[in-house]
Amino acid sequence: MEVVIAPPGELARLAADAVEGLVRANPEAVLGLATGSSPLAVYDELVRRHEAGLSFARARAFMLDEYVGLPADHPERYRNVIDKEFASRVDLAPGAVQGPDGLAADLPAACAAYEQAIADAGGVDLQILGIGTDGHIAFNEPGSSLASRTRIKTLTKQTREDNARFFGGSVDDVPRHCLTQGLATIMSARHLVLLASGRTKAEAVHQLVEGPVSAMWPATIMQLHPHATVLVDDAAASRLQLADYYRQTYAEKPDWQGL
Ligand code: F6R
Repeated sequence: MEVVIAPPGELARLAADAVEGLVRANPEAVLGLATGSSPLAVYDELVRRHEAGLSFARARAFMLDEYVGLPADHPERYRNVIDKEFASRVDLAPGAVQGPDGLAADLPAACAAYEQAIADAGGVDLQILGIGTDGHIAFNEPGSSLASRTRIKTLTKQTREDNARFFGGSVDDVPRHCLTQGLATIMSARHLVLLASGRTKAEAVHQLVEGPVSAMWPATIMQLHPHATVLVDDAAASRLQLADYYRQTYAEKPDWQGL
């Protein structure tokens, strides 16, 4: 696991560098997209690079998760958020972005179909991730099976409170259930790039990087991934025991070595 501690602008550029390098090497790359605040600066940076010539025309993308039951035109439906924040601002082909169907009549069947769609695409090459204050990745809340696949989850009170800011501050308007890629689904992606900023993420980041692997802090499963990159600002890094070592490692990183 590589940990980079840097100002937010640099973190977004590093994540965008990884995506750009991948898409230039393989224009048909499969991207994994997260919603929430953490990846927004990365999407803005990728849009700038698209305007400067980077094309996503042959790429495909899979979303991490979706709320259950939000109407198709709801602005906070993750499908609509991704369209607004990224897909509609670049040249991804129509239908190139897929997400779990939170409006399906048969939700377990929709989850199984989503797993199959990811497998049929050859798996995700690079998965962008944020982390919840309770250590969730995607919506794998504490207690999630470390071997889980896409399924229905109940959101914790903490996550619904954290996300109320997207629903005009009203916790009651945040859905109670979601469909989410499982931890094993995420672990199947070939490169994981997680971004976290702010002091509220500090404990979750400490557990993710330095805690014991445990379903209590689902993101800790990333310690078992052969290619995981954790990009954090000073505040999110403030509880890391080995922060000085991670800073030294990044400062002494050879120029030729990408993320
Ligand atoms: C969103 C997702 C969540 C968020 C996490 C952090 O698709 O999967 O795991 O990444 O809740 O959210 P932000 O970035 O808003 O702090």
